[in-house]
Amino acid sequence: MILQPEEAKVSVYDRGFLYGDSVFETIRTYAGEPFALDEHLARLERSAGRVAIPLPLPRADFALEIRRAIRAARNPESYVRAMITRGSGPMGLDTGLAEKALRVVLVEPLQALPATMYRDGVAVTTFKTRRAADEVAQGAKVSNYLTSMMALKEARAAGAHEALILDGSGDVLEGTTSNVFALTQGVLVTPPEEAGILVGITRAHVLEVAGELGIPVRVERLPLETLRSATEVFITSTLREIVPVVRVDGQEIGARVPGRTTRAIHAAFRQKVGLGAEPLPWEKAGD
Ligand SMILES: Cc1ncc(COP(=O)(O)O)c(C=O)c1O
Repeated sequence: MILQPEEAKVSVYDRGFLYGDSVFETIRTYAGEPFALDEHLARLERSAGRVAIPLPLPRADFALEIRRAIRAARNPESYVRAMITRGSGPMGLDTGLAEKALRVVLVEPLQALPATMYRDGVAVTTFKTRRAADEVAQGAKVSNYLTSMMALKEARAAGAHEALILDGSGDVLEGTTSNVFALTQGVLVTPPEEAGILVGITRAHVLEVAGELGIPVRVERLPLETLRSATEVFITSTLREIVPVVRVDGQEIGARVPGRTTRAIHAAFRQKVGLGAEPLPWEKAGD
């Protein structure tokens, strides 16, 4: 059933609402086609599996529904949030109280990010937590983002674009809604899944692109000191692609401007998503 957003309703007994008992994916289109849809749905299924939410329909059927929703929205490019909640039922933590899992696909016009973010790079802050995520749901994209929201609130108050989450030992894990990479002594480093990150789809594509460009890559723990002394730092996410980071907690990184390796990886990524003939995000006028 496709509805206008103001017509769509979810029960107040929905467990996503009551307990954050839901998983989701953020997807975007390029030329109207959802990018890496299979990878997103594989991750959604994995997330749902980690918290024992049974998928209410086969993955391929959900893909068809998502494509249909995108077509119906008729946006030039779309941002898609695909959600699965455990469903609704009497209150209580017992998962058996839920009826059938509920799926919701939100489609909105994709908003372009300011060109300045790509041209000049962004500032980030750091936010220390004892543990990155709820251990049970580690690696799953569950809907409770409260730690991330508090971290981002602090970042925004400091005039920064993103907050990087640190674990108990002070190692950098990821951004609130992004993964992080640092170029250190010519090697591109990004934290591993075991550190407690969400394994980003963009991260996977960036790792692939870096390999193709012959950039040495290491997936390993990233101490804050390594990040601070890196020559280049960038974050990755579906909606932002690759954003250069030029300041961490007020301290400048490398040459204080987006680096050559970051640019090369982003240009190669744009080729990969079919935008090779378009101006690069930092070449666009405005903002
Ligand atoms: C915690 C977290 N890490 C990383 C990412 C980046 O993942 P992707 O590249 O799949 O968008 C996200 C995306 O929202 C996220 O929420």
